[in-house]
Amino acid sequence: MADPAGTVFDVVILGGGSGGYACALRAAQLGLTVALVEKGKLGGTCLHQGCIPTKALLHAAEIADQSRESEQFGVRTSFDGIDMPGVNAYKDAVVAKLYKGLQGLVKSRKITYVEGIGRLAGPTTVEVDGQRLEGRHVVLATGSVPKSLPGLAIDGDLVITSDHALRLESVPNTVVVLGGGVIGCEFASVWKSFGADVTIVEALPHLVPLEDEASSKALERAFRKRKIGFELGARFSGVEKTETGVRVLLENGKKLEADLLLVAVGRGPVSQELGYEQAGVQTDRGFVTVDNLCQTNVPTISAVGDLIPTLQLAHVGFAEGILVAERLAGLNPAPIDYDGVPRVTYSEPEVASVGITEATAKEKYGADSVETVTYDLAGNGKSQILKTAGFVKLVRQKDGPVVGVHMVGSRVGELVAEAQLIYNWEAFPDEVAQLVHAHPTQTEAVGEAHMALAGKPLHAHG
Ligand code: NAI
Repeated sequence: MADPAGTVFDVVILGGGSGGYACALRAAQLGLTVALVEKGKLGGTCLHQGCIPTKALLHAAEIADQSRESEQFGVRTSFDGIDMPGVNAYKDAVVAKLYKGLQGLVKSRKITYVEGIGRLAGPTTVEVDGQRLEGRHVVLATGSVPKSLPGLAIDGDLVITSDHALRLESVPNTVVVLGGGVIGCEFASVWKSFGADVTIVEALPHLVPLEDEASSKALERAFRKRKIGFELGARFSGVEKTETGVRVLLENGKKLEADLLLVAVGRGPVSQELGYEQAGVQTDRGFVTVDNLCQTNVPTISAVGDLIPTLQLAHVGFAEGILVAERLAGLNPAPIDYDGVPRVTYSEPEVASVGITEATAKEKYGADSVETVTYDLAGNGKSQILKTAGFVKLVRQKDGPVVGVHMVGSRVGELVAEAQLIYNWEAFPDEVAQLVHAHPTQTEAVGEAHMALAGKPLHAHG
């Protein structure tokens, strides 16, 4: 490996999470010389504190539910409880294996990996522990961390964030979850399956408020059935420590007692004290601002991932990292259509979507120019076998393509692959209706919804 000091790299990347490492891998593949700087572990939030460990917990939760409910399927099992060290060992092993694989991948692409805390020291320079790395281009990919509210101190013990929630050594008896967004709903789902009493507090009128209202309402119905409590339109006003845990106070006067308070009110960018402002990089509320090709106002500096004000999703980070690598290599990548990015909340049931909501479509095209259809999973054989409820809802511009697909139900996250092709290829309902879907699968529900929208429903009244 070349001595990093004294070498001028094509790209120096600050941050080795989803956005940064994807940029490094693609840039190296395109023949660019790359230095990748990471202060923690390669893989970042997604691999170590986010997507992967939480989905392992959600899978363990699914197994708990299935063993508890197996009699419904004529299978006798006994559910003896959750062995949290065992769950953590399983989760950590999944992470460790992927981490090892990723380290090997970075090594095999001949990327210069520099461990340490990096700082932007100029438009083409990153400084790591006194060592200066020069690049023709610099990519900022320093990600995000959990946010809190003014006056709400995280102590990591009774008042925690998702970082701490991933490391709990026992299942709490009662939890209050502040924030009914993606993180709040996923942890509420896990803890309920693990046997805890859970209450979510959400300031807006619905859970997962960015989703189509029909999806939010269906999730609320399902959570109600699972006896997950929630307070909607409820704002947090304070927290007090008690002998046994916490008392959470709401502006509506309610007081909720619990062992723990999980704060899940969003994630904020990591952009302070990293030399960004001194280098003249423009920011907005801490997010680094970029054009539609992830270029900042400084010509040699790009930025990707949770640090920029786009969807905070690992797969968006990957896409932005790849886009920047291709642009720097002189290719001509197309800007990302962020509406075309699939979104999945991996709770039980899952919520998945791509494209725009019915409300946004009505704003965009006018209320009379929007058509929707909702196909109930009650008509889908495989969903009945799984005993799940939910729907596939389509939003289309009248006489135009499908502009939104919204789904709720067990395992519907996997259906978003087809939905994203439909949205991104601007398919018309009758084109999708022609495609034969395998029976009995949940993908049929996607086919049937399009058949209904094309005016020829099969297993639906229409
Ligand atoms: P979020 O922005 O999705 O949800 C935060 C929620 O907290 C919002 O619904 C907001 O209205 C509510 N809130 C804010 N202030 C409040 C207050 N004072 N009282 C009550 N409620 C309040 O953020 P979240 O869930 O923390 O996730 C952070 C990011 O990580 C998101 O962008 C999310 O998309 C991403 N993520 C994605 C996952 C996935 O794709 N499956 C999984 C986990 C996180």
